[in-house]
Amino acid sequence: KRVAVLISGSGSNMMALADACRESDFPAEIVAVFSDKPDAGGLVKAEGRGIFTSAFARKDYPGKPEHEAAILAALEQAEPDLICLAGYMRLLSADFIRRYQGRIINIHPSLLPLFPGLHTHQRAIDAGMKIAGCTVHFVTEGMDEGPIVAQAAVPVLPDDTADTLAARTLTVEHRTYPLALRLVAEGLVTMLEDGRIARSGYV
Ligand code: GRF
Repeated sequence: KRVAVLISGSGSNMMALADACRESDFPAEIVAVFSDKPDAGGLVKAEGRGIFTSAFARKDYPGKPEHEAAILAALEQAEPDLICLAGYMRLLSADFIRRYQGRIINIHPSLLPLFPGLHTHQRAIDAGMKIAGCTVHFVTEGMDEGPIVAQAAVPVLPDDTADTLAARTLTVEHRTYPLALRLVAEGLVTMLEDGRIARSGYV
């Protein structure tokens, strides 16, 4: 499967996917990495892997529709089967999502449906949670609410700060996202028209 990855920052999740794609039996290849931030560290990392990259600075476009149209045009060229959002910090419009219905996944640093949105680690600590974690889900029109593909949990330790919990979670994200991409790329997990998740066997 051809995969395009959208990033806004360091791209550590994108690199975890790139590493997984190097395994001979992995059912996906990254054909493009796009960012809304020209200075995103992940762009240089992707280029170092020989992956095609392109940046679309929001300020270069009059509005969100034009910004998305530029990204969609680049995606048309890349012809991905799947899109992975990996630290991509913009909400996609309903039109964009409809264009790739059931073929966009995202990783979110919490055990959804708990803590959608930002500052997930501080919120988990503030809520007194004893576990935290990450979720890979299909992207739907609502933010951080699509059908769940995979999750992984980490302990919240008594002296945790948002940063220490984020670091522990990121390590687990880097294992969970490649697993989730494998399940979706192999068709073992799909999103049905009505938004429900379909799994083949126990996955
Ligand atoms: C990660 O915590 C990820 O869960 C969130 O963005 C953070 C940075 O990701 N979506 P990356 O290092 O840019 O992949």
